[in-house]
Amino acid sequence: MNAVPNVKLNNGVEIPQLGFGVFQIKAEETRAATLEALKVGYRHIDTAEMYGNEREVAEGIRDSGIARADVFVTSKLNNGFHAHDKALTAFDRSLEAMKFDYLDLFLIHWPLPGVGDFVETWQALEEISRSGRVRAIGVSNFQAHHIERLAAETTVIPAVNQIEIHPYFTQDDLRAFDREHGIATEAWSPIAQGQVLDDPTIVPIAERLSRTPAQVTLRWHIQRGEIVFPKSTTPKRIAENFALFDFELTDEDMAAITALHRNGRRGPNPDEFNWIP
Ligand SMILES: NC(=O)c1ccc[n+]([C@@H]2O[C@H](COP(=O)([O-])OP(=O)(O)OC[C@H]3O[C@@H](n4cnc5c(N)ncnc54)[C@H](OP(=O)(O)O)[C@@H]3O)[C@@H](O)[C@H]2O)c1
Repeated sequence: MNAVPNVKLNNGVEIPQLGFGVFQIKAEETRAATLEALKVGYRHIDTAEMYGNEREVAEGIRDSGIARADVFVTSKLNNGFHAHDKALTAFDRSLEAMKFDYLDLFLIHWPLPGVGDFVETWQALEEISRSGRVRAIGVSNFQAHHIERLAAETTVIPAVNQIEIHPYFTQDDLRAFDREHGIATEAWSPIAQGQVLDDPTIVPIAERLSRTPAQVTLRWHIQRGEIVFPKSTTPKRIAENFALFDFELTDEDMAAITALHRNGRRGPNPDEFNWIP
């Protein structure tokens, strides 16, 4: 009834289409939130070195009693570590913090086009991949022209591109580009951090289906084939966001929600963002 489908990545690795995001969850609250998500049934957690809670995600997984192999774990390379050797060391530190011997997915968090050269960073991730300590590598916040450089100058096509997507910022061109290159698209801030939940198009669809606006919005992503990992520290919402597989949006619902696009990017523009924490 509520089984989460897997998406097969371009190297054959399978990732649950629905996961749990932990951005802006305080380190001291992350173990409990992770445990709650795993109890509800999530088996995919999206963290990052930048979030400061990798260690606590791993503690939650260990304390849940669920086998490490049964949870798909993503982390991301922080912005200060784009130089080749720094990237290798940063990956080692993430594994050490988590006390894991491998990650399922490791991403370059931002391309930072004005800082160094992300091609060198990607080559470090390719090396990590060859070492067998990560099952798949990918990018986050990469535009098509950034990925075109990787395709021209390196050997591995990213398995995923994790980008901002929600009804106010649908990213249809970049999704099509990813698809054409065999790259799975992951949607971050899938409910626009709550901003779309009182939308006058989404609310009546939710009422008709006896679902919440968050469920309708997340279901829209699922039906578009995107991988999503909504964040919540509220147990009721963690459960609500997981219940997406026993109802369907019609083609009309899908089109109406997609038509809400208004270039409403909430995060930074990756072409202009060169921030190092
Ligand atoms: N790669 C990147 O650059 C990047 C950037 C941003 C995010 N991400 C990833 O994407 C994940 C999700 O994005 P996000 O955390 O920015 O935003 P989001 O999942 O779109 O929204 C999270 C916010 O919505 C609230 N919320 C969650 N479920 C709800 C529901 N059912 N009803 C009402 N409110 C609800 C949460 O509140 P409560 O917690 O108070 O319940 C929280 O304030 C992150 O956790 C992270 O893993 C990646």
